[in-house]
Amino acid sequence: MRRLNNIGTIIFLFVAISVVPLTFVRSAVGAAGDTPSAAAQPGQSAASPADSEYVGAERCKTCHEKNYDSWSKSVHFRTTLDTRGGPSKQGCEACHGAGASHAADPSDKSKIFLFKKASPGEVNARCLTCHASGPTHLNSPNSFHRQNDVSCIDCHSPHHATVKESLLVKSQPALCYSCHLQQKSQFNMPEHHRVNEGLIQCTDCHNQHGTGGVWESDHLVRQLRTSDSGDFVCYKCHADKQGPFVFAHASVKVEGCATCHIPHGGANPHMLKYSNVNLLCLQCHTTAALPHGPSMDKVMDAQNATQQQACTLCHVQIHGSNFSNYFFR
Ligand code: HEC
Ligand code: HEC
Ligand code: HEC
Ligand code: HEC
Ligand code: HEC
Ligand code: HEC
Ligand code: HEC
Ligand code: HEC
Ligand code: HEC
Ligand code: HEC
Repeated sequence: MRRLNNIGTIIFLFVAISVVPLTFVRSAVGAAGDTPSAAAQPGQSAASPADSEYVGAERCKTCHEKNYDSWSKSVHFRTTLDTRGGPSKQGCEACHGAGASHAADPSDKSKIFLFKKASPGEVNARCLTCHASGPTHLNSPNSFHRQNDVSCIDCHSPHHATVKESLLVKSQPALCYSCHLQQKSQFNMPEHHRVNEGLIQCTDCHNQHGTGGVWESDHLVRQLRTSDSGDFVCYKCHADKQGPFVFAHASVKVEGCATCHIPHGGANPHMLKYSNVNLLCLQCHTTAALPHGPSMDKVMDAQNATQQQACTLCHVQIHGSNFSNYFFR
């Protein structure tokens, strides 16, 4: 087999020099692979197909022109340029498995890997033979999507992608809304992050492939990304809320932004959980404990009428301050 690869390399150099399109390389190696000389390499498990069982993409093309076309125009074509993994990591067969017996007898579909018939687990395993590493996929075993049988091809399509970039079935947010209807209604609320308008995307905050970070029983919380510093994802864009502040508001630091805000969107100004800011504050601060100049009755009354006495009218820097332990400035 080593020899065969060397022959492949020589053919490769020869072909490259004579400026013939690279796709012919695969057919040349594929044709050579048809010879019965190829035996399993030492260490190769008995179950994995021998190189002779791979026919190469050009052979598939003879009967599947359309699928060949969509593949050759996609980034997956690049697998033909990297010969290190051998034929099992190249071309059509990197995904569909060794194709010699299928090519010889196409009527028996059990001889080729059919994604549409495969279980989500089998599909993911196929794709992850190449995509298990890298910063965005490192945590994919923790993915809540994978744990709930959402497979790669629920979102990606190697042949029929409508969004060329990342080979997506649909563009965001429509892709996500196809399963997450509740979130769709949240982003239609009067105050919302402008996801539908295309200003930011679901995947700015979430890693649909799975995230590291905090565990909550069996899965990682909400598949949220972290900022570059490994903090709440919100700081990625709202850096001014991160501090460090000389006087931090404990609720912001400890419990996080979602204690007061609905991150997707809601009916209240600033996406707050309560329409009345005071009620929000009084979730944690009891009136009795407040040593205020203005009586709390007055505060509440005036607030209801005009918003003039909202807590945040005086406690302006509610996320934290460098000058005032009461967040006045
Ligand atoms: C000699 C012609 C021929 C060759 C070569 C060939 N196929 Fe096929 N293939 C067929 C036929 C015929 C079918 C059945 C089509 C059908 O029933 O719709 C088929 C079916 C398939 C299917 C299943 C389609 C479905 O119905 O979901 C896949 C996947 C497939 N081929 C992939 C490949 C790949 C990959 C290669 C190269 C390794 C290849 N084929 C080579 C003729 C061929
Ligand atoms: C990156 C993995 C991957 C590669 C590479 C790939 N396919 Fe597919 N193929 C799929 C998936 C996934 C499907 C299921 C349909 C879909 O999601 O696009 C599929 C479906 C098919 C089908 C069934 C018909 C259809 O379009 O649904 C045929 C036939 C096929 N592929 C042939 C090929 C041939 C021929 C090549 C090489 C030229 C190839 N595939 C390369 C993943 C791949
Ligand atoms: C044989 C290895 C291999 C397999 C198997 C494989 N891929 Fe890929 N995939 C690649 C390579 C190589 C690239 C290009 C990466 C690059 O050049 O940065 C790629 C790129 C991608 C991209 C990014 C597209 C873009 O525009 O950046 C997506 C999405 C993807 N693959 C999905 C899949 C899915 C889904 C499957 C399973 C159906 C799959 N891949 C199977 C090797 C593979
Ligand atoms: C819930 C939908 C969804 C699922 C499931 C999903 N992806 Fe993705 N994937 C996306 C979206 C959206 C993007 C583009 C945005 C981004 O880069 O985060 C993407 C980007 C990618 C990319 C290119 C950028 C990168 O991160 O490298 C690759 C490769 C990829 N996905 C592979 C996979 C594989 C392999 C699986 C299955 C194990 C998978 N995806 C499952 C939605 C999904
Ligand atoms: C601004 C950042 C941000 C954006 C953009 C965003 N999310 Fe979220 N999402 C969050 C946070 C934070 C939580 C956790 C809320 C909590 O735990 O109270 C969450 C929770 C979720 C949940 C878990 C159930 C729930 O509602 O608590 C789902 C599902 C979800 N988001 C889907 C989506 C989808 C789909 C999109 C795009 C349409 C999206 N998210 C856009 C930040 C965001
Ligand atoms: C094919 C259906 C499907 C698609 C498409 C899909 N999801 Fe999901 N998603 C699920 C399922 C099922 C779960 C797990 C059960 C649940 O929370 O509803 C889930 C869970 C999640 C969670 C975690 C919720 C939690 O409670 O921790 C987030 C966040 C999420 N999805 C975001 C996204 C984003 C962002 C997209 C688009 C890139 C997307 N999803 C596309 C089906 C899907
Ligand atoms: C990808 C960037 C990005 C991320 C991440 C992000 N935001 Fe935002 N956020 C924005 C932008 C841009 C606006 C401006 C509002 C607009 O015009 O849509 C905004 C607006 C807001 C507002 C409303 C401001 C107002 O005056 O009404 C709040 C509250 C908010 N974000 C909270 C959060 C929280 C909480 C998180 C984390 C869950 C978060 N943001 C993550 C970009 C982001
Ligand atoms: C203790 C409750 C609370 C917490 C926790 C909180 N906020 Fe706020 N936030 C508010 C209130 C109240 C307002 C409205 C301020 C006003 O009315 O002047 C606000 C306003 C905002 C605004 C819009 C106005 C501005 O100052 O830019 C953004 C953006 C924002 N918050 C982001 C965040 C982020 C990001 C986090 C997490 C780091 C967070 N908030 C945590 C209470 C909170
Ligand atoms: C989720 C609970 C929570 C919410 C909601 C909340 N706070 Fe706090 N706040 C705290 C905690 C905890 C402290 C720290 C108390 C301490 O150190 O004794 C604090 C401290 C303060 C302080 C500084 C006083 C001190 O003793 O250090 C002020 C002022 C304050 N909050 C105002 C507000 C206002 C105004 C709101 C509404 C916009 C609000 N808080 C909402 C939990 C909350
Ligand atoms: C008219 C301005 C004003 C309004 C409105 C106001 N505060 Fe204050 N707050 C103050 C002042 C002044 C102090 C400092 C009192 C002192 O020094 O004894 C204070 C102190 C506090 C403290 C610190 C108490 C402690 O034990 O140290 C908390 C907590 C607080 N306010 C919460 C609130 C909440 C919650 C609201 C809304 C329901 C609110 N404030 C509305 C002016 C105001």
